[in-house]
Amino acid sequence: MGACSLQVEYPGRECMLEQNEEFFHLVTDDGPERIRIHEYDRVYDVPGLYEEVVYNRLQCDSPHVITGLLKDAIQRHGDMKTPLRVLDFGAGNGIVGECLQDAVETEAIVGIDIIDQAKTAVHRDRPDIYDDYYVMDLSEVDEGDQQKLDRWNFNALVTVASLGFGDIPTRAFVNAFNLIENRSWIVFNIKDRFFSEDDDTGYNKILQQMIGNSLKVYKKHHYCHRLSMAGEPLHYYAIVGRKENDF
Ligand SMILES: C[S@@+](CC[C@H](N)C(=O)[O-])C[C@H]1O[C@@H](n2cnc3c(N)ncnc32)[C@H](O)[C@@H]1O
Repeated sequence: MGACSLQVEYPGRECMLEQNEEFFHLVTDDGPERIRIHEYDRVYDVPGLYEEVVYNRLQCDSPHVITGLLKDAIQRHGDMKTPLRVLDFGAGNGIVGECLQDAVETEAIVGIDIIDQAKTAVHRDRPDIYDDYYVMDLSEVDEGDQQKLDRWNFNALVTVASLGFGDIPTRAFVNAFNLIENRSWIVFNIKDRFFSEDDDTGYNKILQQMIGNSLKVYKKHHYCHRLSMAGEPLHYYAIVGRKENDF
């Protein structure tokens, strides 16, 4: 992806905002446009902009970290299901799908996102990655959606950088979890605060209830997801586990 022609201006290091408030300016002939990183519809509209801001400038490495941990876990736990039929939930413009294809043997990769612009960006920038890509809201799964998804017989759920912060709500995450077969891979990351007593998103409670009951955790890895605009590390947990039964 060529991002070099984009002109992006970043706020100074004194800019200490919550992650979902962080912004930059895209400079074009029309002048500077202020865009929040979490305005995904606008960010995906511009080829290479997400890659430039999140991956080049803010050094996000989560897709590689997560898919690398999955690869290690597959090698260690030979009894688990492969090749993978993956549901990439909150797939965005497809970077995780691309890393999955490189890291592990897949039979199918299907993306879901809640906005049309993500699907459009995937078709524009990474047309060969996904076997199918749905724009869906899994907060409510109707019969039609259920049928579309059931036919893939998913044996892995992967969700990167999409939980909390007003993105995927707990209900949708639980519905996605329940769409996947028992004894499947469950792989996701989440900001460390949302998986702690300080959480105010509901994720900590849900995850604590899941673990040991519906979800067996093989690996819980604390790492730097990306830098903030001020250059500070933002820490997440990466979780690799196995679904035992519906939640
Ligand atoms: C930070 S991006 C991560 C994209 C991709 N997973 C990656 O790591 O590059 C978060 C994505 O979650 C999507 N999203 C937010 N709420 C969602 C929901 N309820 N259901 C599905 N996707 C959602 C956004 O549209 C966005 O594409």
